[in-house]
Amino acid sequence: MSYPRISTFKTHEQFQQRLQQLQLDLPVDETVATGDSAPLGQSLVSRAGLIGNRFCILPMEGWDGTKDGKPTELTRRRWVNFGLSGAKLIWGGEAVAVRHDGRANPNQLLLTEDNLADIAALREELIRTHEERFSQIDDLCVGLQLTHSGRFARPNKKAKAEPRTAYRHAVLDKKLGLTTDDELLSDDELKQLIDDFIAACVRAQRAGFSWVDVKHCHGYLGHEMLSGYDRPGEFGGSFENRTRFLRDIVSGIRASAPGLEIGVRLSIFDFTPYEPGDNEGRTGVPSASGPYPYAFGGDGTGQGINLDEPSAFVQLLSDLDIDLLCTTCGSPYYNPHIQRPAIFPPSDGYQPPEDPLVGVHRQIDATARLKAMHPEMIVVGTGYSYLQEWLPHVGQAVVAAGGADSIGLGRMVLSYPDLPADILSGQTMVRKKICRTFSDCTTAPRNGIVSGCYPLDPHYKQMPEREQLLAVKADM
Ligand SMILES: Cc1cc2nc3c(=O)[nH]c(=O)nc-3n(C[C@H](O)[C@H](O)[C@H](O)COP(=O)(O)O)c2cc1C
Ligand code: SF4
Repeated sequence: MSYPRISTFKTHEQFQQRLQQLQLDLPVDETVATGDSAPLGQSLVSRAGLIGNRFCILPMEGWDGTKDGKPTELTRRRWVNFGLSGAKLIWGGEAVAVRHDGRANPNQLLLTEDNLADIAALREELIRTHEERFSQIDDLCVGLQLTHSGRFARPNKKAKAEPRTAYRHAVLDKKLGLTTDDELLSDDELKQLIDDFIAACVRAQRAGFSWVDVKHCHGYLGHEMLSGYDRPGEFGGSFENRTRFLRDIVSGIRASAPGLEIGVRLSIFDFTPYEPGDNEGRTGVPSASGPYPYAFGGDGTGQGINLDEPSAFVQLLSDLDIDLLCTTCGSPYYNPHIQRPAIFPPSDGYQPPEDPLVGVHRQIDATARLKAMHPEMIVVGTGYSYLQEWLPHVGQAVVAAGGADSIGLGRMVLSYPDLPADILSGQTMVRKKICRTFSDCTTAPRNGIVSGCYPLDPHYKQMPEREQLLAVKADM
């Protein structure tokens, strides 16, 4: 099944017609405003500080740190680009592991005492370059995303999964080669991990970050804790037990790092795992049929949404004096089409089972529903890169309608780092920089190659790794 490319919708009317065909009620403005009254140019006030506009850079790692978890030149280049983007909210920069066994790959950044100064320098350089270009930094809000990769940990070798899991999951265990003999994280091990998380948060504060994201998305450990419905003990079963991990980390931060603010990136719904179908086009199909009980924010079918628990979770954040929420969904490992809508799948993915616009709308709509239930939260939405030329038109309409407070940019800033600055200053978007969702930035790391926008970013285009990537893709 193929779907019309976004670049073929040359006019607002053509784009609207496609949305109508798909029966998607997605807000799209015809023109994008600039100047003092522009919806995307308005500031916001969070507990974490002033946020000067409605663009947010989403966290994106590059699989390019050193073996001991320090940034490299490529990491620094990415953070500098984030600073140059013009966005005033930097959601965490990239996922940084709180300890070695929680790294998603052997090149993920690691917030140890030894690495503190190097990670602090990333923030400083981002702020310095932002100041050089935009003159103002009192409205730039920079947090650090902290994580343990849990089920998707690969701390030592790119090819060797070393999962730390919270409960047995028939499909995902099989995918990772786990059996019932493999041990789950015990309650005591989780308590130790909570202490390690808190210690990393203290370091993040010492490194100058005004807030941390206690990551709860994409199938990593924080997210997995929320769906441990049949896990026994203190961390499973009831909503109270499944949120103990978050609550204990938050109370530890309040006690040990007073003044450090907190945000949470949350997969607000999840679907069943997908895999390439046994069909001509390798179109994605659910990995198992029947009910699916492990989706936090799911309706039990594996393909529907029920926001009751996510809403209770957001209420909990609010009760804990947390006002920053970044919404996302699912996992790039087992259902990438809902998480990162794309026309071209990554090498370990499958052809999209729906027009990617449906996936974009699903995230925007669920986010708007949560925002309506929790107007006190500052909500950053995700999944906009697939909109390409229409990203600013949809982003502006969503913000103006109150469906989100800030528009998160992921892949688009890898190919087009200064997109927010261009939009806010009324420049025409530069076509050759627009992310076309080729997924090379995901395919590369899945094959042990550093991540970046190989097709469009001149820096990656000339790297020797591009040849390696092309060879991998030729074999796909
Ligand atoms: C190369 C790459 C690395 C990513 N790394 C992270 C990460 O470290 N932490 C995170 O929460 N999300 C990560 N994501 C997900 C993005 O933040 C974002 O949710 C996703 O790309 C969808 O947004 P988009 O449509 O704007 O790309 C990554 C995505 C990509 C493409
Ligand atoms: S490789 Fe570049 S064009 Fe492709 S999805 Fe990533 S950022 Fe977009």
